Parts: sequence; C-alpha cells; structure tokens
Amino acid sequence: MPESSPVAGERATAKVVLISVVAAIGGFLFGFDTSVINGAVDAVTQQFGLSEALSGFAVSCALLGAAAGAWFAGGLADRRGRKAVMVAGAVMFAIGAIGSAFAFAVWDLVLWRVVGGVGVGLASVIAPTYIAEVAPARIRGRLASLQQLAITIGIFAALLSDAVIADSGGGAANETWFGWEAWRWMFLVGVVPAVVWGLLALGVPESPRFLVARGQLDKASDVLGQVLGVTDREALQRKVSQIQTSLHREDRPSLRDLRGPRFGLHPVVWVGILLSFFQQGVGINVIFYYSTSLWQSVGFDESQAFTTSVITSVTNVAVTLIAIATVDRIGRKPLLIAGSTGMFAALTVMAVAFSQASGSGEDLTLPGAWGPVAVVAANVYVVCFGATWGPVVWVLLGEMFPNRIRAAALAVAAAAQWLANFAISTSFPSLAEVGLQFAYGLYAVLALLSLVFVLRTVPETKGMELEDMGADTPART
Ligand code: BGC
Repeated sequence: MPESSPVAGERATAKVVLISVVAAIGGFLFGFDTSVINGAVDAVTQQFGLSEALSGFAVSCALLGAAAGAWFAGGLADRRGRKAVMVAGAVMFAIGAIGSAFAFAVWDLVLWRVVGGVGVGLASVIAPTYIAEVAPARIRGRLASLQQLAITIGIFAALLSDAVIADSGGGAANETWFGWEAWRWMFLVGVVPAVVWGLLALGVPESPRFLVARGQLDKASDVLGQVLGVTDREALQRKVSQIQTSLHREDRPSLRDLRGPRFGLHPVVWVGILLSFFQQGVGINVIFYYSTSLWQSVGFDESQAFTTSVITSVTNVAVTLIAIATVDRIGRKPLLIAGSTGMFAALTVMAVAFSQASGSGEDLTLPGAWGPVAVVAANVYVVCFGATWGPVVWVLLGEMFPNRIRAAALAVAAAAQWLANFAISTSFPSLAEVGLQFAYGLYAVLALLSLVFVLRTVPETKGMELEDMGADTPART
C-alpha cells in the first residue's frame, strides 16, 4: 500500500484542539467514576450493613459495566456515529450518578453503578476513536493524550469533591445539605460533568472517517477542511478517496472483521488487547484504590495518608504533561520502553520493602527506612506510569488499528482493559493477605514482561497517517 501523505497546507487549527478537548471530557467521567466510590464506600457499607464481599462488589461492579459499555461502543459507533456514542455515554453516566445518589438498598446501588459504568465504558472507547479520527497526524499523540489528562483530573476532582462533601457533614455517613447523607452528594456531583459533556458533544462535527464510511463524502470533506484548516477542495477530495480506499469494502464493519489467523484474531487486535492487559497488569489501580491503607502501613495517620493520596493524584495529572510534550516528538515506543523499565525498578523496590514488613492486615508496619523507601518508590512508579503507559496506551489504541476496524477493535481492547482492571483490583486484597511483597512482585514481573512485549511487537505510529495503519503496513521500529 503506498504511504498516504498529509493534506498539503494542513495545520493544527483551534477547532481541532477544541473538539478534541470536548471528546476528552469523556476521560473526566472515566477518572471521576474510578475514584468517587473511594470516599463513599465505607459510609455505604455502614448504611446498608454490607459484608466485606458485598462492599467490594459495590465498588468493582462498575468495572464490569464499563467492560460491557466498551464492548458495545464499537458497534454503536459504526452504526450510529461517534457523536451519538458520546451523548449515550453522558446520558448513561448521568442516570448512574442520579440513581446511585438515591439508592435505597445495595442491589439498586449495584444496578446504578453498572449503568454509570456502561457510560464510562462507552466514553473510554469513543474519546480516543474520535480524537484520532479528527486530529492531524503530526499532533495526534498530543491531542489523544488529552484524554488521559482528563482521566487524571477526573480522579483528582472526585477525590477532592469527596473530601469537601465529607467535611461538610463531618463524615461521609453523616447528613449534610437538605438532610441527605454526604455519600449521596458525592455521587450526585457526577451529573454536572455528564451534562456538560453531553451538551458539548452535540455541538462537535461527526468524525470524517465515519462520514466517509456512510458515503457522506461532501460532508466528510467539509469537516476535514475545518479541522485541518485546508481550503483546497482537490486536496481534500484526495484525502477522502484515501480514506475510502482504506475502508476496503462497502458493507458495514462488524466484529467479524477482527477475525484473523492468530488464535482467531487479527494480530493487531492482539497487540491492542495485550497493551490493555499490561497497562492494568502493572497494578496502577491498586495504587489508586488502596493507597490510603498503603500509606497507613508505612506509619502515616489517616489524614496524612489522605494528603499523600491527594499528592499522588496531583503528580499523576502533572506527569501527563510530560507525555503530551514528548509523544509526537520522541514517539510512542520509546515512552513505553522507558515506562516499563522505570515501573519494573520501582515495583521491585516496593516488593523488597514490603518483604521487610512486620505484622499483617491493618497492623502491618515497615521498619526503619523501609517506610520512606516504599513511599518514594510508589511515587516514582506513578510518575513512570503517568508519563508513559497511562496516556500512550490510549493514544495507540485510538490510532493503531486500520480505519475499517478501528471502532470495533478498540472496543474489544478497551473491554479487555476493564476486565483486566477488574481482575487485578479484586484479586489484590487476597494477594495482599498472602503478603504485599507477592502482590508488588507480581506487578514487577508483569512490568518486565511488558517491556519484552513492547520491544518485540508494538509498532511505532508517530506521524503516520491513519490510512496507513493496517496489517499490511510494516511496523516501524
Ligand atoms: C488507566 C486507568 C487508570 C488511570 C490512572 C488510565 O490510563 O486506563 O485504569 O486508573 O490511567 O491515571
């Protein structure tokens, strides 16, 4: 396949940045949902008298909803368009937030958390798909990294909003405004970003790649002109034809297109699934979900532990900027390689530090310098993840698949990511009971394997046109 070139005269317009920011707000919902439950879970457990297992399920059921949402996002995006999926994601999230706030028993809370989770799953697929499809190749990595920036800001915002709300009632279980328990407000706040996202999404143009797939060529050419800042009709028409050629066939894409010779799937789909698996396998969400108890084990009291968790989440936001600054210059692969190496080293140090622990469960303590060593290692780990694997996996998932299968393949890879997230975060408490050194040791091994995987199989996509992504395109290394 001949290499496609950028449209002559294309530049980064304010419009493309703006519509990418709108799509990225889906990431805010993603991050918010991941973290809002942390502040509410103890109060919910107390109010509904939940067992430990049920309380854990009230937290993790949203991840299963997200896996389902991600899975269906691809088909929906190919049938109804990218914009429709954004709006559907926002609506589901808003319903989930309102339902959770009004929950009267654990069973309906679980139901609403799953509904909100479906919204988050839709958002996790559609933001990277849409951004990759509107962005000029030269700055695509930067624009797609905005989604991760929004995820990390969402995590931080939920943590902060939970803290402010809990404070207003003197505790998450206590009554606050209008006689409502604080934890209910924590969920309800999520309606605001959902409504903002839904309304803004109504105003963005449809993805030009989707328009071409639906045969709306003039409209596609108009949108390309707007986002690329190009007025030369002929050049735009050439781009539209390139996109048409890359779609190969007239019929609608479906999950069947993902089939291939390697264990039933197209090799590039496996690369996507494994990127997702390793991004979760290194244990990032264990750090986010369980950080407060981690810090308590190194000798911090509850409020210091909370402050440390906030600092970690701010660090996570800040380091995303490193990726935004470098992903289009040095490329995706070098960032992943650096990230795997750094995470492997930091996790190994954590495993060694926790092998020195005495006591267990809530009474676990680290002697001497091992406490500070573990704190530093955990933060180094977050820096290594946040500047590399966090954003870059989403950038790659948005851009690495051929046009024809993008939405469907990304949906499968993202669903795999939510399932891996579920598996890692629900297995952590049992692993931790055996010994935290085993948990961190396992994540260290997975970080090492992720390095081998990247070196051997991940293609470099920096600067490539989407029309050149495909199984028949040799990977650049
Ligand atoms: C991951 C999330 C994680 C977040 C942390 C994202 O890229 O997909 O699972 O919670 O990064 O910043």
